[in-house]
Order: sequence, then structure tokens, then C-alpha cells
Amino acid sequence: MDYSDFPSDSGRTGHCVLFASSEAHPLVKTGGLGDVAASLPMALRDLGHDARLILPAYPSAKKLVRELKPLMELRMPGIVGTVQLLGGLLPDRDLPVYLVDAPAYFCREGNPYTDVSGRDWGDNPERFLLFSRVVAHVAMGLPPLNWRPHILHCNDWQTGLAPALLREQDERPATVFTIHNLAYQGLFDRATFDRLHLPPALWAVSGLEFHQRMSFIKGGIVFSDRVNTVSPQYADEVRTQRFGCGLDGLLRQLGGRFRGILNGIDYRVWNPADDPALPQGYDAEHVHLKAENKRELQTLFGLPRDEHAFVLGHVGRLVEQKGVDLIIDILPRLVEAGQVQLVMQGAGDRALEQALQAAAANTERVSVHVGYDEIRAHLIEAGCDAFLMPSRFEPCGLNQMYSLRYGTVPIVHNTGGLADTVVDASDATLAAGTANGFLFNDPNADGLWYAVEKALRMHREQRGQWRALMLAGMRQDLSWQASARHYADFYSEAIAARTSLHQAAMA
Ligand code: ADP
Ligand code: GLC
Repeated sequence: MDYSDFPSDSGRTGHCVLFASSEAHPLVKTGGLGDVAASLPMALRDLGHDARLILPAYPSAKKLVRELKPLMELRMPGIVGTVQLLGGLLPDRDLPVYLVDAPAYFCREGNPYTDVSGRDWGDNPERFLLFSRVVAHVAMGLPPLNWRPHILHCNDWQTGLAPALLREQDERPATVFTIHNLAYQGLFDRATFDRLHLPPALWAVSGLEFHQRMSFIKGGIVFSDRVNTVSPQYADEVRTQRFGCGLDGLLRQLGGRFRGILNGIDYRVWNPADDPALPQGYDAEHVHLKAENKRELQTLFGLPRDEHAFVLGHVGRLVEQKGVDLIIDILPRLVEAGQVQLVMQGAGDRALEQALQAAAANTERVSVHVGYDEIRAHLIEAGCDAFLMPSRFEPCGLNQMYSLRYGTVPIVHNTGGLADTVVDASDATLAAGTANGFLFNDPNADGLWYAVEKALRMHREQRGQWRALMLAGMRQDLSWQASARHYADFYSEAIAARTSLHQAAMA
């Protein structure tokens, strides 16, 4: 396939964007980055930009990409085996994707970051350096591809070395780096830095060095023309010591080059009116039909079929960040409240998995599914009355937005993207019609319980108000439209900054 002839490219007058990510739905996904990596480039294409995705050729990616074919071989010193660039389209949409096929690095069981037992791959630095190297090559415009991006958009630490590798290339494209989660930085020891044979000049506090270790994420932050994170509130938070994970000073120094751009959600995948995972579709005009999904959810999770039960749900990676331990802490109070049910789905930390299963074993009102399951995740969003997200911090969070779209009222900690998307039900917001959920301030069991009790009371005693919350969420515009436009403007800024830098260097 010659992408310059890619049919829907005709008439694209916007930016050419190479979007680099370590995961993308439905090829491979462990969390929200996977959703964003498929939906943002597609939203940019819908706006007339020529966005293309690049990702490692994991086995599932090679299996699922449509019209996959080899484009070229890349010769790279010190690499085990061969490196080929493959090209094709995402299975469910016309989004061009390049796959970096280096079987010795990416062709393995497990997920992009860990083996099947959940341990990080020992050679992650080599794997994501190789990926970043290929990304940097493609970003410079390889002749056989007949395509040269104006923008390289990198995401998270796995792609952080690409802007660092391009730093001295006069003809490089403008670079944008998005931090989806500052807590994951790709930190490795000095011996790893030496082993990777990176330019020695990169070992500097103004480069990759971070407290005597090598930081992949610093590559993206230090060497990109523009840096952003995925919500305005989290952008403010990470510039403080409390949330900055040691990088708050650096982010503050970036000044106006750093900001927050809120994620959108993919209406092609998350649409309650037309969701193949649901037994019964519904929308804001037919919200009563949602009840059928509650019955199906109760059956699937082995809970008593009770249409009057207040059903709470949670889906997520089981890690400290998500505050699942707070949910476990309030279980006795939940069970005591009567006619409350809880559905939980997640995978990750083994201790949390076990704690959840143990908590569920004692009561028929709580059901836990340990594992990763997209279809069930959709049914939980549709079948619950309310969705719990007690995250200690949350860069953006997609699940609360899926909940809003599905008329499932979010109960969330007042932090990051949760604070930017959920409007707490107060007298004022209820009167204004803007309330869509419940926020709590203290990230502990009492804080969470305060909001859950408030929600429970409204669900029982003020059905009209509850319905107003549901409808406010369902009618909100959570699509990528507005956010993709923000990214397009951000790209223009990055290009302008790059151009003036280039001109200054040439003068
Ligand atoms: P994060 O990226 O921090 O994990 P987000 O809320 O941004 O959090 O996105 C999480 C995404 O991963 C959502 O699409 C969610 O449905 C999905 N997800 C997480 N855990 C599971 C699971 N166990 N089963 C199905 N989907 C899951
Ligand atoms: C990260 C964050 C999450 C965000 C997602 C997509 O994994 O933890 O809050 O929604 O990336 O940007």
C-alpha cells in the first residue's frame, strides 16, 4: 500500500501527524492510553489531518491489522534479529498504522510491558529504545514510505527517547509529548544507560538524568517543542510537589509550553444506543430501557435480580492509584445499607485481586470478576446505577466519561480529570441543571462513604433529581471533536516554535 494514495487522504489539508504509542485499541490495550491512541488520531483524521499511528508489532497487532504488508526493512546496529516496518489499517476504522516488527523484542506472550505473571520485561529499556529509534526514523520521512510528518506526537515514557534522539536533526518535525500518567517514568540505572549506547551527552540533568538514574519520560519532556497532559486540573496538580513525582520543577519551568488538554471518548465504541455488548440499547430519550441491562448484569455477575437495588460498579487496573482499597474499606457499610449491590472488575496487583475476592466471598451483594474483559466492561457501564472512581490521582480517567455517556452516575474523588468532568450535585448545580455526579474531597474511606451515602439517598428519595443527573451526563458533549481541535492548535504552536528555532539556528 502506498499511503500517499490512501483513498481518504485526498483533500486532507491539515497537518501530517505521526502518533507514536505503545498500545492502541483494539490491537492491544491495558488502559486508557490504548483508547486514546486509536480515537485521537481518528478524530484528527475526521478534522482533515493526515494522522497515522505507529506501534510495536505485538502478535495481536499483527493478527488484527487489515491489509497488512511489509513496507521496508530497517538496518539498525546492535539489534538482535531483523527490523521491518509493516503497514496497514486498524480493523474497525480507516486509520493507517505502521507496525515495528522486531520479533526478538515484541513477539511474546504477555502484555506490552509485562510477562504473563505480571513482571516487567527485563529488556524493556532495549525494547522501547528500539521502538523510539524506529519512530525517530519514520518521523524524518523515509523515502520508501513517501510520507513525511510535520508533527511527531509521542505518548508516555515508552516513546520518550524519540524526541531526545531527534534533538540535533536540523530537518526534524515539530514534536509534541503527552504525559498520560506521570507516575510511570521509565526509570533505569546508570549501567542500563551505558548498555544502551545512547549519546553520552544525554547523561545530564538537562537531559535524561534523574537522581542518578536514566528517565525515559524526561526525554519527551525536555526535548519536545510542546508538552501536555490529559486534563487541565492534572496539569495544575503535576506542577506541585504533591503530585509532581519529582518532575514538578521541570514542568513549572516549561511555562506556557506545557498545558492540559482533556481527553475525549470514542463515540464509535462507547454509544449506549448502538453497543453490541448490550442486550438492550438506549439513549437519553429512552432511558427507561437501561433497566434491561441491569437485569442482565445481575445475572452475569450472579447477583440477586432486583430492579430496585442500587447497583454500584467499578472497572479498572488494580493498582494503588485507583483507590480500590477504599472501596474494600466501605464494603461493610455498603452491605449494611440494604438493597445495595456492587460489581467490580479489574486485574493487576495480586494482593488487591485477592483482597477483593476475599471481600466478595462473604456476601451475595458483591460480585468480583478478576480479569480483563471489554464486553463485560461495557455491560457494567450500562447496567449499574452509579460508578465508583475513588482514584488517589487521575490524569484524566475515561471510565467516568463512559459512565456519564451511559447514564450511570459517577461518584469520584475530586482530583485531576475527574474534577474536570464531573459536576457535584449541590443545590446550586441541581438548580442550574449542570449536576451530573458526586465528588468527594478526602481520599479515604470516610470521604468516599460520604459521597456514596449522598448518592444512595438521592437514588432512593429524589428520583426526579437522580434522573436529572443521568440525563445531564448523557447529553454532555464528551466526544473528541473539541479536544482534537485543541490538539490541532497545539500542533500549530509546536510547528511555529520549531520553525523559529530552526530559523534562529540557520541565521
Ligand atoms: P487508566 O488508563 O489509568 O487505566 P482510564 O480510565 O483512562 O484509566 O482507562 C481505563 C481503560 O481501560 C478503560 O477503557 C477501561 O474500561 C479499561 N479497563 C481497565 N481495566 C479493565 C478490565 N479489567 N476489563 C476491561 N476493561 C478494563
Ligand atoms: C493514563 C491515566 C488515565 C488517562 C489515560 C488516558 O493511563 O491513568 O487517567 O485517562 O492515561 O489518557
